[in-house]
Amino acid sequence: MMREFRNPVGDDYDRVIVQLDDWWGGRNMQVRLPRLWFDHFSDTSFVVEEDGAITAFLIGFLSSVHRNEAYIHFVGVDPKRRDQGLGRGLYERFFALAAERGRQAVGDAFMDGLPVHTGFHGPGEDRVVFRRKISSRDVQGPGQLGP
Ligand SMILES: CC(C)(COP(=O)(O)OP(=O)(O)OC[C@H]1O[C@@H](n2cnc3c(N)ncnc32)[C@H](O)[C@@H]1OP(=O)(O)O)[C@@H](O)C(=O)NCCC(=O)NCCS
Repeated sequence: MMREFRNPVGDDYDRVIVQLDDWWGGRNMQVRLPRLWFDHFSDTSFVVEEDGAITAFLIGFLSSVHRNEAYIHFVGVDPKRRDQGLGRGLYERFFALAAERGRQAVGDAFMDGLPVHTGFHGPGEDRVVFRRKISSRDVQGPGQLGP
């Protein structure tokens, strides 16, 4: 199988958005991922292309206010391709990028799980919030999955 981790380009947004709701079990997720994320954050985001299909993606950015932090907005893996390390490969690439750019922490907020932070992303938008410290070891990036 041909597998490539790369930054989003061209029509990748259109290729992802048509699959998005299916990947979340029919939930309306498209409204949470407007095109601007692919247009303005593509150099800190990744897609996985396998045999001509996009099977996973991560949208992240370097905070422009909290200058030692990076943040992950969205991660999704095709249900048919889950539990095979694609999610890990995306996270590790983003941690490596954050480390290379001198960031010391990465934040993320999950929709599912205990509603630890009520209204974190607005009314009714409860989240489980994660924060991971970045160390020099993260610069090495992903291991076994390779490029
Ligand atoms: C969460 C998600 C991105 C993980 O991607 P994945 O490619 O299946 O994950 P991996 O195969 O790389 O798994 C990495 C590790 O995380 C664990 N893991 C994966 N999904 C998990 C989940 N939903 N809950 C808890 N642990 C999980 C795996 O068991 C694995 O642990 P291990 O290496 O110790 O065995 C994927 O399941 C997904 O797209 N889910 C729906 C969308 C979502 O919830 N996105 C995140 C919020 S925006």
